[in-house]
Amino acid sequence: MARNSSLAPQMALSRLSLLLLAALALSSLPILAIARGGDAISNRSGHLGQRTALPKRRLFEEKEPQITEEMTRGYMSNSELEMAVKKFAKRCANISRVYRYGFSKTTISIGKSVNGVPLWVIEISDKPGQKEAEPAFKFIGNVHGDEPVGRELLVLLANWLCNNYMQDSLATLIVRSVHLHILPTMNPDGFALRRRGNANNIDLNRDFPDQFYHMNDVISLRQPETKAIMDWVKQQHFTASASLHGGALVANYPWDGTQDTRKHYYACPDDKTFRYMATVYSRSHYNMSLSKEFEGGIINGAFWYPIYGGMQDWNYIYGGCFELTLEISDTKWPKASELPVIWEYNRMSMLNLVASIVKTGVHGRVFAANTGRPLPASVIIRGIDYKVNASWTFGDYHRMLAPRGNYEVTASMPGFQTRSTRIQVEDEAVNLDFILNLEGDAHTPSLFANGCDCSCHGNARLLGFLRGIHLELFLLLVILLFLCFLFKRKKMLKFPRYREPNAAKRDLVV
Ligand SMILES: *[C@@H]1O[C@H](CO)[C@@H](O)[C@H](O)[C@H]1NC(C)=O
Ligand SMILES: *[C@@H]1O[C@H](CO)[C@@H](O)[C@H](O)[C@H]1NC(C)=O
Ligand SMILES: *[C@@H]1O[C@H](CO)[C@@H](O)[C@H](O)[C@H]1NC(C)=O
Ligand SMILES: *[C@@H]1O[C@H](CO)[C@@H](O)[C@H](O)[C@H]1NC(C)=O
Ligand SMILES: [Zn+2]
Repeated sequence: MARNSSLAPQMALSRLSLLLLAALALSSLPILAIARGGDAISNRSGHLGQRTALPKRRLFEEKEPQITEEMTRGYMSNSELEMAVKKFAKRCANISRVYRYGFSKTTISIGKSVNGVPLWVIEISDKPGQKEAEPAFKFIGNVHGDEPVGRELLVLLANWLCNNYMQDSLATLIVRSVHLHILPTMNPDGFALRRRGNANNIDLNRDFPDQFYHMNDVISLRQPETKAIMDWVKQQHFTASASLHGGALVANYPWDGTQDTRKHYYACPDDKTFRYMATVYSRSHYNMSLSKEFEGGIINGAFWYPIYGGMQDWNYIYGGCFELTLEISDTKWPKASELPVIWEYNRMSMLNLVASIVKTGVHGRVFAANTGRPLPASVIIRGIDYKVNASWTFGDYHRMLAPRGNYEVTASMPGFQTRSTRIQVEDEAVNLDFILNLEGDAHTPSLFANGCDCSCHGNARLLGFLRGIHLELFLLLVILLFLCFLFKRKKMLKFPRYREPNAAKRDLVV
């Protein structure tokens, strides 16, 4: 009620029409509640995303099966998880940190749950906590309190990387070339309460701002767990991510919601890229791609069943981050003794998905030609209505792309001339740097067109006076000019360049 009264009139209106639509849809269908949502828990948005499902899918009934003591045996409690995180941080201190962001000094986390449990995040990198011109990936587990497999696997993943760094090539690549952030549980309260929603019984995967419907736009009503994720994403500049769920075996990709609230394939601008990423996961999995239910083990969220206020679409639209929603086990609570096997089934998928953010796509840095400073420019692919931004710190950008394609890449920045170039992406990543000239600068783009603050100008002017004098003197001058040119060139090349060991196939500068 409090929520309703504070909604702006147009929000209330769109909610009303949604309610009507949903009621219409619901009246003709049996109520199926599904993995990513659709339970009737949330009075606020429970009506969205509950309409329909593939015929065979009944992940849980209206009445959820009781989660018994027996089922939870062997799973980490929240305090055991905290201990596992701290133990990891101690053991693997030189390639990780457990970090805090913007909150009280004593709390090392990105935020807290409703009941005050810190949201612990592990960062794995050879330079944890430092900014580098490298892409970042995030894994989030246990978004739904009653889906605990993800939180277990994420702790196993962190430990596996620590154990295999410098021994396994994928582990080494990830530690060296990626900043991997792992939040084992986004919903510790729901986990403790043995239910899907958080302590306020809100489904966190319905709590994000939505592109079509504005039921979550009131900031004061946003759940602290959701807010923590949103702040974190704005802070960190993630290239890609995945959240882990349970109750099915499939890699789900955007869009999750449709504008008309009906269930149908709804492709986002990067549909091809997302299908590639989802396929990387399903094909690397023990048997996800063999699914009889989902072709290739992947599915478009809106085609499965539309949801609104989900984390996945929000990440792509507002976070510049390519997020998948991974359903990693058919049962939500497999016996804890099966967890090592489930980890083995998912291990290569998780590693390959993280590694894909350096092994594919186009990467590079953007600089201002006049100052050599990095630019937080926007990078656009012709034909794809989506912007990836370079970072403020290094001007590095990391653009996921499906392999084997010809792409026209454009970098643009207000105040600078836009530049474009075509690249052919095969199976490896392409490295492509941009140097942008100031707007209104008539020079044809050239590395050496600007930024000369050595004595060359003076020398050039001297040329006129010296015309006609002795040949030796003239040659000497030419040599001087050439040296000056070399000096400038050296200066240009001093731009720190983005490099990744296994990924860069070739370097281009435009
Ligand atoms: C939903 O709202 C109704 C009436 O406002 C209330 O009785 C019920 O407890 C609420 N359910 C949940 C799960 O919050
Ligand atoms: C971390 O420690 C191990 C073992 O001492 C060492 O081999 C490795 O080089 C260190 N890694 C980094 C990134 O410092
Ligand atoms: C995958 O393997 C597990 C364990 O053998 C089995 O329970 C599950 O049904 C299999 N799923 C598919 C899609 O083959
Ligand atoms: C990227 O930059 C543009 C232009 O500055 C901005 O409008 C947009 O919000 C940025 N995108 C992200 C994901 O930060
Ligand atoms: Zn879920």
